[in-house]
Amino acid sequence: MSDALTILGLESSCDDTGAAVVRGQPGKAQVLSSVVEGQTSLHAAFGGVVPEIAARAHAERLDDVVRQALSQAGLGLRDLDGIAVTAGPGLIGGVMSGVICAKGIALGAGLPLIGVNHLAGHALTPRLTDGAVFPYLMLLVSGGHCQFLLVRGPDEYRRLGGTIDDAPGEAFDKTARLLALPQPGGPSVEAEARNGDAKRFRFPRPLLDREGCDMSFSGLKTAVLRMRDQVMEGNGLRQQDRADLCAGFQAAVVDVLAEKTRRALALYLAENPAQPMLAVAGGVAANKAIRAGLETVCADMHTAFTAPPLALCTDNGAMIAYAGLERFARGERDDMTLAARPRWPLDRSSAGMLGGGRKGPKA
Ligand code: KG4
Ligand code: ZN
Repeated sequence: MSDALTILGLESSCDDTGAAVVRGQPGKAQVLSSVVEGQTSLHAAFGGVVPEIAARAHAERLDDVVRQALSQAGLGLRDLDGIAVTAGPGLIGGVMSGVICAKGIALGAGLPLIGVNHLAGHALTPRLTDGAVFPYLMLLVSGGHCQFLLVRGPDEYRRLGGTIDDAPGEAFDKTARLLALPQPGGPSVEAEARNGDAKRFRFPRPLLDREGCDMSFSGLKTAVLRMRDQVMEGNGLRQQDRADLCAGFQAAVVDVLAEKTRRALALYLAENPAQPMLAVAGGVAANKAIRAGLETVCADMHTAFTAPPLALCTDNGAMIAYAGLERFARGERDDMTLAARPRWPLDRSSAGMLGGGRKGPKA
């Protein structure tokens, strides 16, 4: 590949410090290395990500994570064509840590700097993992995001809908906390749900009666709290009660995501009938019941389904390096005035919509 580009990518917008090297061209690139250092233990005592602790940990760890990524790729700074960095949206202190680190490396090594929208990193991952061709529909579901994006090009997105309050991962984490299960809540709730009866408790399916593909998950958390308290007032919370609550909660999330995906796909297919494809990204996409629900919808609607490997679904530097590669290949560069942005909607026309999650409304 004579015009292959080699890009280093940095990610530090929430609680994962990531650095990775990606090489190739748009639609045809490979991950040479990807190092992600999580901060779960640093925030464990606080019941959520503490922005100041996250920012400091990123600042302290970024240089070493970059060193590891370069060494695993067997490359030095002189082998790179550019350095890409998440410039938002996210927790501002962490984003600033990454941007400052990337500027330092770019300045010191004389490399071009490319600022990347974190959401574009997620949205373009199917191009890196599967060589996906534009357009496609993307469902981004994590602890910080929940939205349907029509991806038309590396800088062309339309938001078809999303959560109006919490992200689903946040609801899984809260449910785990209410039931004294370990964090992150998604995997623990999923494991409990396997032994539970999803029909014992009647959980709401928020916004299913409303048209369109906006979603809401905050009411589900409240429902878990109410039902847990009712059970506790009775015979106390037993193992089976916990499993049944998890199963009921998860079934509600699956139903909401599946039905809203059906609607988003219908909107997407009306405009793009020749390109039936749904891609998912984000930590919640690891959930087998959710994946199965989405696969059923896609099968019913004759649509291809793709989910990147988990390490590339959750926050990582490789998706940032790849999104940077797409920008770089189009001749786009940033300079030392690149600013960190706490909010940065991909679809400028829906900038005013909520799309929260634990990082706040930002997309
Ligand atoms: O994408 P991610 O690593 O970070 C951001 O939130 O940006 O996603 C983490 C979220 C957490 O809320 C976690 O509980 C959830 O993804 N998660 C899951 C599962 N694995 C991780 N949710 C449901 N089921 C899972 N198996
Ligand atoms: Zn993310």
